[in-house]
Amino acid sequence: MTFENRYSTWAGRSRELFDQATEVIPGGAGSSARTAKFGWMPYPPFMAQGTGSRIRDVDGHEYVDYLLGLGPMILGHRHPVVTRAVADAITEYGTCFGLPYELEIEAARKVVDAVPGVEMVRFTNSGSEAVGSAIRIARACTGRRLLIRFEGHYHGWQDTVYWSNHVDPAAAGPASRPRPVPSGPGVPAELAATLIVLTWNDAESFAAVMAEHGDQVAAVITEPAVFNTGCILPEPGYLELLRELTARHGALLIFDEVITGFRFARGGAQEYFGVTPDLTTMAKGLGGGFPVAAIGGSREVMSIIAEGRYSHSGTYNANVVACAAVSATMDLLAEPGLFERQRALGERLMAELRSLAGAACLPVIIEGLGTVFQIWFSDRPIRNWRDAERYAREDLFTTWWQEMLLRGVLFHPSQYENLFVSLVHTDADVDAMLNAAAEAFAVTRSAARLAGLPG
Ligand SMILES: Cc1ncc(COP(=O)(O)O)c(C=O)c1O
Repeated sequence: MTFENRYSTWAGRSRELFDQATEVIPGGAGSSARTAKFGWMPYPPFMAQGTGSRIRDVDGHEYVDYLLGLGPMILGHRHPVVTRAVADAITEYGTCFGLPYELEIEAARKVVDAVPGVEMVRFTNSGSEAVGSAIRIARACTGRRLLIRFEGHYHGWQDTVYWSNHVDPAAAGPASRPRPVPSGPGVPAELAATLIVLTWNDAESFAAVMAEHGDQVAAVITEPAVFNTGCILPEPGYLELLRELTARHGALLIFDEVITGFRFARGGAQEYFGVTPDLTTMAKGLGGGFPVAAIGGSREVMSIIAEGRYSHSGTYNANVVACAAVSATMDLLAEPGLFERQRALGERLMAELRSLAGAACLPVIIEGLGTVFQIWFSDRPIRNWRDAERYAREDLFTTWWQEMLLRGVLFHPSQYENLFVSLVHTDADVDAMLNAAAEAFAVTRSAARLAGLPG
């Protein structure tokens, strides 16, 4: 029986809701990452309720949740402490003043205390907004125009950065000097002249471009570990090189920590890898599931806002829901040993998935840092987006994903997304996934054999 047939039996009520949704919501969902085009074929399951590490759909299935809302549910669903803090704050204070208030200072102080490169912080509402501000601040501070970014990274949907994420490889030019390619229509082509796009993890091309153009570069923006092309970790010395050469040429280094922030270390990837950027963007994880983002940086860089030379504005910036959520989340993340414990749990999951795939004779690479990882069906190392396009077997990933979904394990259907392990996942959640994975790998192995993979 095809997956579509099995799924339509599995998700009958979701089908009814999907039909209603498509009448009023384009694609039937509030973000394109939740639609069929991004892999939720033939239509996404509709959700009813989440609690901790589990989520239930409208057809009555409970899943172990490794999607985690695409990252923000770092404390699981409806964490009682954060939920209570938000409910109390809006009951006590209100939601939005258009003026500063004390809880905002409390939330900001806790972020500053947690993240090494953040001496001052402004809250905003989404990662895309935070990135847009970071880039404009970098250009304003340096008086320069050029932005260096990397293929396969995603920094939100704004025109300045909506480029060269996952584009047609034929249009992307040579790896040694990629051509900027907009990630979709509607982006002004003229902005290509403001960008240099490079291959990630390639020290040579970065050093060459900085030698040639470094003095015109306003900023280098990077995910410090790439989580928008599955998971790709920085090679030893690579982040240090970005830091050294940006500093040498007077360009700013922006770490886009929208995913990595608070994920595998309280101070984010910058704490974990020991490299401090000039500007940091944060979002998922920051508010324990509530909508909030932030831009933070050194006192020197943020002084451009403090002195009124740059206007960073937003009606909903630092609203009460956001600040109450940040404050409560930061307290919970301060629990001693929390990240070490959850990284170890995730690493056990990764290690056991590797051995199950090995036992099924499937070539896989499982890369990540415990609390976030991805599985590549590939027998070649994946160092950047071009490697992923060339070597990763998306068809096998899809089969594996389908088999896992129908066994009650939820994660995104694209190999370019991630599996998230929250800070409240337990050994039982990991065991549940491993039981499903053993069977799913066996089915995937049969699919691989049919598709001609030797073995
Ligand atoms: C690294 C990174 N930066 C920026 C964004 C944009 O964040 P948002 O979706 O909150 O606008 C994302 C979203 O996934 C992201 O992963």
